[in-house]
Amino acid sequence: MFARSMAPLGGLFLVLLVVAMASSTVPFSSAALPRFEQPIKSDGSLSLLAVGDWGRNGTFNQSRVAFQMGRIGDDLDVDFVVSLGDNFYEDGLTGVDDKFFEESFTSIYTAKSLQKQWYAILGNHDYRGDVLAQLDPALREIDSRWLCMRSFIVDTEVAQLFFVDTTPFVKKYWKTPNKHHYDWREVAPREKYVSNLLKELDSALSESTATWKIVLGHHTMRSVSDHGDTEELVERLLPILEANGVDLYVNGHDHCLEHISSNDSPIQFITSGGGSKAWRGVFDPTVDKLQFFYDGQGFISLQLTKSQAKIVFYDVFGTVVHQWSAAKNFNFFM
Ligand SMILES: [Fe+2]
Repeated sequence: MFARSMAPLGGLFLVLLVVAMASSTVPFSSAALPRFEQPIKSDGSLSLLAVGDWGRNGTFNQSRVAFQMGRIGDDLDVDFVVSLGDNFYEDGLTGVDDKFFEESFTSIYTAKSLQKQWYAILGNHDYRGDVLAQLDPALREIDSRWLCMRSFIVDTEVAQLFFVDTTPFVKKYWKTPNKHHYDWREVAPREKYVSNLLKELDSALSESTATWKIVLGHHTMRSVSDHGDTEELVERLLPILEANGVDLYVNGHDHCLEHISSNDSPIQFITSGGGSKAWRGVFDPTVDKLQFFYDGQGFISLQLTKSQAKIVFYDVFGTVVHQWSAAKNFNFFM
């Protein structure tokens, strides 16, 4: 345990140092979104895994998915891992001393290849617990891989990743929470929070010169599964993505794997919410072009260079069930 926690500690210091440095160098208009610098490989490539909807003590095949993530992570020599929210079921963490953190994260994702930085965002189930605990740097003393924030940007030489806190967008969590309690500390009032976030994101995206612009959130934008499209995101977030030439929107929330292409823009909608419990048995057609839908557990990898992007979808056995790639042309002599 001690050795595992110590290994990535140097990386954490680097990240924190970069944040401190970046905060003094980014333009004022987007200064509110924390930025992290992620180095790429010496061959100019970057690879990562993304998984959502996972923390269940290893049950519902969480451990099997984790094992295959470790195997694929080794094959691709991944640079980091992304968690797309709903990190701890059913109701997030109770505090920074909640053993569920170690039982569902540290003790599950044990493969050597996964001992990298994890960039995590929050899902609706995380908001049902002590949100401030999941965001608390004290968790990094337990497992130094863990970095969870509401909204932030990861800068790399080949791509920029814009992580967006989508749960506060969804009105029903505020208006009709039913038996659930949502932890809106440091978020309420909703409209001010959402408006500011959209303004900051729009500003950061418009300033971006990255080859690949990737936006990541917990909630679906387009989905043929149980939760379907998230109306508030389609109305307010999607126009910003379209206006700024975003290539990918990657989410969890629906417990499946999906690839849907926009009819109106180059945006690819990617769902990777198969980290544990799956098989909802729901299928509703989408207004956009469905490329792939798998109702079971799994995860995705993303491999990027300045000219190419490749997404691979894996099931619980680590079998490739779908892949998609795109290229952008450059005049390297200019
Ligand atoms: Fe969710």
